[in-house]
Amino acid sequence: MPGSRRIAVLTGGGDCPGLNAVIRAVTKSAMLQGFEVLGVLEGFGGLVNGAFITLGEDDVSGILPRGGTILGTSNKDDPYRFRAKTANGGTVYSDRSPDVLRNLEEMGIDALIVAGGDGSLTIALKLLRQGVNVVGIPKTIDNDLEETDVTFGFDSALCTATGAVDKLHTTAEAHHRIMVLEVMGREAGWLALMSGVAGGGDIVLIPEIPFTFEIAAASIRARFEKGKRFSIVVVAEGARLPDGSQVSRETVSGSTVLGGVGHVIARELEALTGIESRITVLGHLQRGGSPTAFDRVLATRFGVKAVELVAAGDYGRMVNLRGREIGSVLIEQAVARQRTVPPGGGTVRAAREIGMSFGDA
Ligand code: F6P
Repeated sequence: MPGSRRIAVLTGGGDCPGLNAVIRAVTKSAMLQGFEVLGVLEGFGGLVNGAFITLGEDDVSGILPRGGTILGTSNKDDPYRFRAKTANGGTVYSDRSPDVLRNLEEMGIDALIVAGGDGSLTIALKLLRQGVNVVGIPKTIDNDLEETDVTFGFDSALCTATGAVDKLHTTAEAHHRIMVLEVMGREAGWLALMSGVAGGGDIVLIPEIPFTFEIAAASIRARFEKGKRFSIVVVAEGARLPDGSQVSRETVSGSTVLGGVGHVIARELEALTGIESRITVLGHLQRGGSPTAFDRVLATRFGVKAVELVAAGDYGRMVNLRGREIGSVLIEQAVARQRTVPPGGGTVRAAREIGMSFGDA
């Protein structure tokens, strides 16, 4: 038997719709092949602390349509830089990978399936290099992973964002306002671009395309002159202001999170056009709720393929979608760089062809 008998599955990084569908698919297909399945609780933190549960038919029954992850997740527990509080309230970091290796060994885990984005898969790659039999599954609403046409979670977030653009349209039209919708996307503007196109937005501002307020305002004025007295602006949270900066804030717990660029844009556009502007920050609504049918199917196919790779002893790979086919690539290749929106790509070109502005010349 080339493969392993005891598999652990872990969900890492920010959650997204479809994680439970992956856990279900992994558990069901692995059990049918005679594997035992364990779930790692709270992402990589569970590997460090040895927090595992056994997963069986009953545990995954009914979870397919549920958002979140029954295992819990964290985007802060990197075993190679693991946080701990000191007695005086400070924070120290240490390499806890030896604990991870020991826990995996003690639990008799032969292979680890990690559903995660670039951060989690980079950790998975380090574990692989230390001898852990790892298989990755690409997850993130940002859709910013190379080597797959799409990650699961993106379609669900896109539907939420598109629904928001649709709703903003009616109120924008009623009040003749500029409505700015800020969606997620740190370095990749996929959610903003696709929801802008799907919802018929007028201006899309993304990190990949530098914009100026003057050009964005000019396109709003041009619409106004044609009798369109409202405009919808969709902006990615990571869009860079004309000076190159991103808008972020520090949380009480000390993390820096992106957000707020929409407020700056609404203010500037109102000042330049004289048209009343409002801002909606969609935030974590995009990460929550039930996965779309597309994401449920994709997550199921990814989960099944991941178990196939484990069964074949084909480790160090991330499952992927190319066209309509599920395949796999080296994790190393998948995390080598981020997949961002090509400014000259087909969707941007089509958007420009129908008159959408990206706030650039
Ligand atoms: O990477 C996914 C993502 O949703 C980003 O788009 C966003 O910037 C980030 O996670 C938010 O993370 P948190 O849950 O820590 O606020």
